[in-house]
Amino acid sequence: MARAKTAYVCNDCGADYAKWQGRCDACGAWNTLSEVRLGPAAATAGSTARRQGYAGSLSEVTTLADIDLGSVPRIGTGVEEFDRVLGGGLVPGSAVLIGGHPGAGKSTLLLQVLCTLAQRMKALYVTGEESLQQVAMRARRLDLPVDNLQLLSETSVENICAAAEQHKPQLMVADSIQVMHVADIASAPGGVAQVRESAAQMIRYAKQSNTALILVGHVTKDGTLAGPKVLEHMIDCSIMLEGSGDSRFRTLRGTKNRFGAINELGVFAMTERGLKEVKNPSAIFLSRSDEPAAGSVVMVVWEGTRPILVEIQALVDDSSLGNPRRLAVGLDQNRLAMLLAVLHRHGGLQVGDQDVFVNVVGGVKVVETSADLALLLSIVSSLRDRPLPHDLVVFGEVGLSGEIRPVPSGQERLYEAAKHGFRRAIVPLANAPRKKPKGMAVVGVKTLAEALAAI
Ligand code: TYD
Ligand code: MG
Repeated sequence: MARAKTAYVCNDCGADYAKWQGRCDACGAWNTLSEVRLGPAAATAGSTARRQGYAGSLSEVTTLADIDLGSVPRIGTGVEEFDRVLGGGLVPGSAVLIGGHPGAGKSTLLLQVLCTLAQRMKALYVTGEESLQQVAMRARRLDLPVDNLQLLSETSVENICAAAEQHKPQLMVADSIQVMHVADIASAPGGVAQVRESAAQMIRYAKQSNTALILVGHVTKDGTLAGPKVLEHMIDCSIMLEGSGDSRFRTLRGTKNRFGAINELGVFAMTERGLKEVKNPSAIFLSRSDEPAAGSVVMVVWEGTRPILVEIQALVDDSSLGNPRRLAVGLDQNRLAMLLAVLHRHGGLQVGDQDVFVNVVGGVKVVETSADLALLLSIVSSLRDRPLPHDLVVFGEVGLSGEIRPVPSGQERLYEAAKHGFRRAIVPLANAPRKKPKGMAVVGVKTLAEALAAI
């Protein structure tokens, strides 16, 4: 009970301290502690809730086999890309956090989902940022079914929980967590203490009433969710809606999911009629001209549970600088430098006096090492100014001794390429399947030299 009324909370990891200090002992970050004032009620309520868990009553011990999985139904949202990222739909009593930059389309996506879902279940949309008129105007403009959705314009968590208590929605959205506040805490909304306590109270309500809760969070300048790590341990599922302002494509990616796999990718396009699902992402990242061009190679990357075809472009040109430029967009810069060294040493090609630019078309970010071989072949193609065949697809990891290493799910990647009309493939030998996709010539290679010979 004798708890200080002032605490210092680390903005990065959420650890709290009784006294201010320059460095957070928990995560090692400097100058991230900020002062929060705790009301006595909040201090005790918060800590007892943490100690007891969410159920107020004493829980019983059961064996794993006795747990009835049939009692965990999934609520399909009707938006397939969203469901996929969630791992098959929303789970009642779970809390999902959707993060993204302002203007990414979080409110638009959730309004679309809720309007459709409200036709078959009780849904409540709590908006703290926009007025009811603004939400209604958007729903009209997007031509959404507007009759059943319940709306609430409110920022006080106590009032929101009271309203939810009364209307008993099965699905509730709070847009956004940064404007919500609880009365017990004196600091401003958006601060670490407010965000943490507001989320904790709403999540406690969701668990007790078995409501599916979706929280919206804006990301800060440095790309982390506001009050960064403070929310991550409380929620069941964390999803990011990403997309650069100049591109109309938005990707939805899970970063934490207690009910499914992460790194699933959902792709949307922002149109004048709201967010539209992109069912076949390979098609948008692959919009190529019909003329084969030097320096362009198509590769297959693995995103979550599905393969996506992406085009990679390279431009190699005589450098006028003493220190030639190496620039990678959508790929790791250091990996490019490393691969160029491998190309010189094991492929015998000299690019030391050339500028090298590489780009992944469509603004995709490729983090997989399966892009290595495609990257090197596109560089060679540009260096020699010789286009590669239009129906060629390439993937594989390149090791430092010039060996080509296998990548996971080789077979699925080949079938995806075959589906899109590719007829030739250069892949790691271990990935070359015994049963080849129909009409496709697959060349398995063990070393970089073999790959270069193959083209
Ligand atoms: P919004 O969903 O409000 O973003 P967030 O809630 O993530 O901050 O708005 C997304 C942006 O999308 C907004 O700047 C305008 C644009 N937009 C469209 O291009 N078409 C549309 O149909 C809608 C509703 C929004
Ligand atoms: Mg919004």
